[in-house]
Amino acid sequence: MTNRPVLFLDSGIGGIPYCRNYLNRNPNESIVYLADRLHFPYGIREKNELIDILSTLVDLLIKTINPKIIVLACNTATLAALAVLREHFPKIAFVGTVPAIKPAALASKNGKIGVLGTELTIKQPFVKELAAQYGSNDITGIAAPELVTFIEKSFYSASDDEKKAFVQNYLNKFRAAGIDTLVLGCTHFLFLLDVFQREASPDITVFDSIRGITRRIESLLTDTVIPQGNNSYPKNRLLLTGSSEPESTWESWADQLGFSLSLLNSEQ
Ligand code: DGL
Repeated sequence: MTNRPVLFLDSGIGGIPYCRNYLNRNPNESIVYLADRLHFPYGIREKNELIDILSTLVDLLIKTINPKIIVLACNTATLAALAVLREHFPKIAFVGTVPAIKPAALASKNGKIGVLGTELTIKQPFVKELAAQYGSNDITGIAAPELVTFIEKSFYSASDDEKKAFVQNYLNKFRAAGIDTLVLGCTHFLFLLDVFQREASPDITVFDSIRGITRRIESLLTDTVIPQGNNSYPKNRLLLTGSSEPESTWESWADQLGFSLSLLNSEQ
């Protein structure tokens, strides 16, 4: 196995549950987690603007880090830019994160599916098209930019009651629409997966894509011949965009993962 790192990319902390799941199963891999805090949040941007941001960032990441695989651990980035990134950077393997609509549509008994995502994700035709492909034409999409910000900025400090209130507020809207399956279509929301599951039970089943993404990375690495890189990479880093000092919560996230924390700027 090559020592070139597996790189997870999100606008902020959203990809951490995916990175952690992969790390737990693959403790010997070298991993870089990149949080593009400079451009957070992605979900309120126009598609073309996000494509430009990600093309510039990926170009820099390939030049400075040379990852063997880039995981867009972000639904918004995936739906807006993955196809273009694959075209621009044909030599790099990408894994995208799309809302788990297929398993939700297959599991739904009444054909009514809810998707909670960012504004840009909810706008994408992909969401409706994929559901229709698996037999559901009744999608309720809700954009939750305030939940993205709440999780990014306050997950550590918020009380259980505050978290529960956010979740209940969305579930009330989905219940009014009569859904029986709910897709968490933004990686940030996975931090509240247990709260969603608890509050949604027993009438709504919640779907996420964490294990599917880990399996996809593993199979890609098994099936693809990836050239070796050099040995100079420090193992497991959390990198931030921007030049300001990392906020203290980033140190806590890095500690939790067992990663070292630094700025992407300092890698150039
Ligand atoms: N975590 C990202 C997603 O999965 C979006 C958060 C943001 O708006 O930056 O869509």
